[in-house]
Amino acid sequence: MAEKILLTGGAGYIGSHTYVALVEAGYEVTILDNFQNANRSVIARLEQLTGKPVPLAEADVRDATTLASLFADHQFDAVVHFAALKAVAESVERPLDYFDVNIGGLITLLRVMEAAGCRTIVFSSSATVYGVPDETPTPETAEFRAMNPYGQTKVSGEQILNQLVAADARWAVGILRYFNPAGAHDSALIGEDPRDTPNNLMPFIAKVAAGEHPELQVFGDDYDTPDGTGVRDYIHVEDLARGHVLSLSSLLGKRQTHLVNLGTGEGHSVLQMVAAYKRASNRDVPYSVTARRAGDVPVYVAQAEKAEEILGFRTVRSLDEMCASSWKWIAGPHSKEDPGSEGDA
Ligand code: UFG
Repeated sequence: MAEKILLTGGAGYIGSHTYVALVEAGYEVTILDNFQNANRSVIARLEQLTGKPVPLAEADVRDATTLASLFADHQFDAVVHFAALKAVAESVERPLDYFDVNIGGLITLLRVMEAAGCRTIVFSSSATVYGVPDETPTPETAEFRAMNPYGQTKVSGEQILNQLVAADARWAVGILRYFNPAGAHDSALIGEDPRDTPNNLMPFIAKVAAGEHPELQVFGDDYDTPDGTGVRDYIHVEDLARGHVLSLSSLLGKRQTHLVNLGTGEGHSVLQMVAAYKRASNRDVPYSVTARRAGDVPVYVAQAEKAEEILGFRTVRSLDEMCASSWKWIAGPHSKEDPGSEGDA
């Protein structure tokens, strides 16, 4: 019988791509989402993509009563936990919201899981836990250096999970530290929602290429990098989604707790991203160089070998494929749907 998975935040950008990957891998997946930062029309498109109804609970991950009744109804074998707030600048302005949702939500979820006897979880962490790392590519052994409340919530989440495993060996936990997700599903039915002014580079470049913003601001060209602009390890969201399937199947099979970076091991600068997007879209991407953005890190690149050793995970999609799939999504009809709901998918 198919194993049953609860996917929190499953209507969001990474969550929706992971939903498709999990269903394709044969899991029976229920989405929990409060649509605070996701688009309702994603659900219909997930149904179109997978050819079956999406089991959905519209609820907040801090709602213990709803969570408990979901576990009673479905007897989940594992949870893949995305539901969280993720904007760095917002976390500096509203730290309590970040602690409440990201840490409070995790604790609520873990308590309900414990009570239901479900002790398998994949947790969304981030390269942000490294702060400004001493070493690039950065290994998983680099120390925690959170630089803002958002990063602090990811460090705390990891620590809570590690202490839980130390206290009770029945828990099996996969901690996945994402580098910079980019691109969209090849079908162009789901992607990163571009409606609001994006904070991140890729969706912003996409808006400029689409003519919805006059130009990109390049935040600093005086970093110690080959062209002076910030370097990141961009990973195709479909590769990232597959990383979750591998983590989950390893947890359910071997019950071996693991911590891995999910990245390609290769860095690209802001100007290289602009050039790649121009190639993929055949549009101009005008930019001007402005001051550095406060709190930015010069270089984030993953040491990617551990994920390969432990999970057999290797990225297979190139930067050009990230840009091409992003452009196909942005230029297609679906990225403009559902203008009435709030936030990004
Ligand atoms: N950048 C620009 N102009 C923009 C936006 C970004 O020049 O309009 C530059 C940034 O300065 C940086 C690079 O593009 O050099 C990437 O910036 P993003 O905002 O896309 O991504 P970050 O790496 O800063 O942050 C992302 C997530 C965080 C996460 C971090 C960890 O937003 O939540 O990756 O890798 F913590």
